[in-house]
Amino acid sequence: MSYKIAVLPGDGIGPEVMKSALDVLAVVEEKFSFKLELEEGLIGGCAYDATGDPLPEATEKLCLGADAVLLGSIGGPKWDNLPPEKTPELGGLLALRKKLKLYANLRPAVIYEELKAMSPLSEKVLREKVDLLTVRELAHGIYFGEPKELTDDMGLDTMVYTKEQVVRIARQGFEAAQRRSKKLCSVDKANVLSSSKLWRKVVIELAKDYPDVELTHMYVDNAAMQLMLNPLQFDVIVTSNLFGDILSDESAAICGSLGMLPSASLGEKISLFEPSGGSAPDIAGKGIANPIAQILSLAMMLEISFELNDAAAAIRRAVDACVTGGIRTGDIIEPGMKAVSTDEMTKEIISRI
Ligand code: IPM
Ligand code: MN
Repeated sequence: MSYKIAVLPGDGIGPEVMKSALDVLAVVEEKFSFKLELEEGLIGGCAYDATGDPLPEATEKLCLGADAVLLGSIGGPKWDNLPPEKTPELGGLLALRKKLKLYANLRPAVIYEELKAMSPLSEKVLREKVDLLTVRELAHGIYFGEPKELTDDMGLDTMVYTKEQVVRIARQGFEAAQRRSKKLCSVDKANVLSSSKLWRKVVIELAKDYPDVELTHMYVDNAAMQLMLNPLQFDVIVTSNLFGDILSDESAAICGSLGMLPSASLGEKISLFEPSGGSAPDIAGKGIANPIAQILSLAMMLEISFELNDAAAAIRRAVDACVTGGIRTGDIIEPGMKAVSTDEMTKEIISRI
């Protein structure tokens, strides 16, 4: 059976790092005897330039007809001043998330022993390898709640969660914890927000189904602080859309470079995989971007959407071997090291698969 992948390179460094991921894909396809059907589409600023729409109908159709979506990145200063519905962020990525009904965003943050020097946190705090996962609710909350309004002198957003929505994302959190070290921290603002009071109540009720998982709760302001003071206390964090947006960037920052971190956004049928970082317009087109986040997003896709676990594991091992073996792009070099290009990093990874 052949699976179809919608490949959306997008803007900025997207096309460069996507090329790396597809080169890696070709190698694992050969080695593990499978073949995915790829079809490219436009999204974001490049789609707006070509069609006037950051999510053209053809792309929407392509994605809805695919088994998974592999995305590069979207956006850049060129498109910042467009009307909201035309921006790459709102009209492109958020619109696609909505169409695909992507409801759970998994963002791992891992900091290798060898890359500790990249982290803004001290060695004292990073006693062990940091390896945490943010499970962010992606389809509801303040991003989409109604009413939503903007006039010249008033802006309105609504944070709303229903029990059903919380149950669905909380289950993802509990299940992720079961696959990992069985610790789940639910982050909310239940001392102030009604939507958070419901969130906490629902998560506590659901915990009965997961007696093997140790559940804790934290207010989001404290969680932001605890991530800096002692990230090692966390394994899986489950939280709402906006809080997860913020905390996942913070946990990414702990790792030193966004160029290393993949993400998965789960839908009911079709899931989407993309780097956690952005389009990095400052280095776009220079051939120096770190392709690892895109390559690890591919690995997440192979594993989560297609259960091609051996191929995913081979990619991860090759990436680990490069990083620990001192092959570094500019974002992760230390003084005295020479940075490799996007292509060189890709070749090094491929040679280790
Ligand atoms: C992210 C981004 C998006 C978000 C933006 C680009 C709409 O920051 O994927 O985290 O806020 O979800
Ligand atoms: Mn974000």
